[in-house]
Amino acid sequence: MRRVERYAVVPLPKEAVQEGAISKPEAVEAALREAWKNLNSRTKDIVLALPASSVITKKIMLPGAATEAEIETQINAEANQVASFPLGDVSLDYQILGPNAKNPTENDALLVLARRERVEERVAVAEAAGLRTAIMDVDAFATLTAYEQMAFQLPDQGAGQVVAIIDIGASSTRVNVLLDNQMVYQREHALGGNTLTNEISRRFDLPLEEAEDAKRKGLLPDSYEAEVLQPFLDSIAQEIGRALQLFFSATSYQRVDHILLAGGCASIPGLDDVVHGKVQTSTMIANPFAKMAVSSNVKARQLAAEAPGLFVACGLALRRFDPT
Ligand SMILES: Nc1ncnc2c1ncn2[C@@H]1O[C@H](COP(=O)(O)OP(=O)(O)OP(=O)(O)O)[C@@H](O)[C@H]1O
Ligand SMILES: [Mg+2]
Repeated sequence: MRRVERYAVVPLPKEAVQEGAISKPEAVEAALREAWKNLNSRTKDIVLALPASSVITKKIMLPGAATEAEIETQINAEANQVASFPLGDVSLDYQILGPNAKNPTENDALLVLARRERVEERVAVAEAAGLRTAIMDVDAFATLTAYEQMAFQLPDQGAGQVVAIIDIGASSTRVNVLLDNQMVYQREHALGGNTLTNEISRRFDLPLEEAEDAKRKGLLPDSYEAEVLQPFLDSIAQEIGRALQLFFSATSYQRVDHILLAGGCASIPGLDDVVHGKVQTSTMIANPFAKMAVSSNVKARQLAAEAPGLFVACGLALRRFDPT
């Protein structure tokens, strides 16, 4: 059985990371240092993720019998077709998925391209904080890894069901739709908890940082719930309804069987009920630690409350690598 040994959460200042680029490296470095200190661990190996919006992925086919050199030639040719910038500026990687269903002598593979700069700036910030990047993943892939820990809670372990994982962050919301553990759709929407923080700040005349803190701790005047929180939850539910309509119109799918709510905003009590009421689809708050044990180092109740926001981190922590 897996066990959550330790975790730490440190908020980043506003705009430290913008559109996938680290715009305030010193702030990110300081946050990493603080998180590592709070973690109270000896390990210096870390797993990081790029945002899905910073990578290009493409399903390709590779001959099963190809040599490494042949694969490399083909990968480069495929990459040339999809990259909008010179290949010298690109980090690329691929993963063989398995034999192609129609053509078993060929393998399905997933090609992933990222601007080298996006990768290197992350590795550099980690290194400045004294940490070594063992793996660079992608947040959407980590979401899939974390989901595998949760699938047991769905009827038939989720088999044959269309599952929408909706990760609602501070400034953006990522929608990933899965069928049988395969990603069938992905899209990012400009929607997130900053809207609520801004409204709290305006309504109760608080600086943004205090508004953020009061929001998380639930320390706000009585009028907050009805006048500020409820309208925000309604607007999130409405946007989720729209996002699903967009999924239906962009694909041949016509239904979603389950919604899993992840990201920091999914910690807001009652969001699942509001979403369910609006879109009439079974809705669950994502807890990737549901079937894991919890070490005595960890406050179990706090972990449960923060679990949706740790969805991607959990997926990253499940990656295997050889420590140095
Ligand atoms: N207990 C809580 N109650 C209400 N809101 C919360 C709570 N915990 C976190 N949030 C909100 O969740 C948001 C942060 O979520 P998350 O950590 O998933 O974002 P992020 O991944 O850093 O941002 P983005 O995906 O937009 O880049 C913030 O708006 C924060 O205020
Ligand atoms: Mg996020």
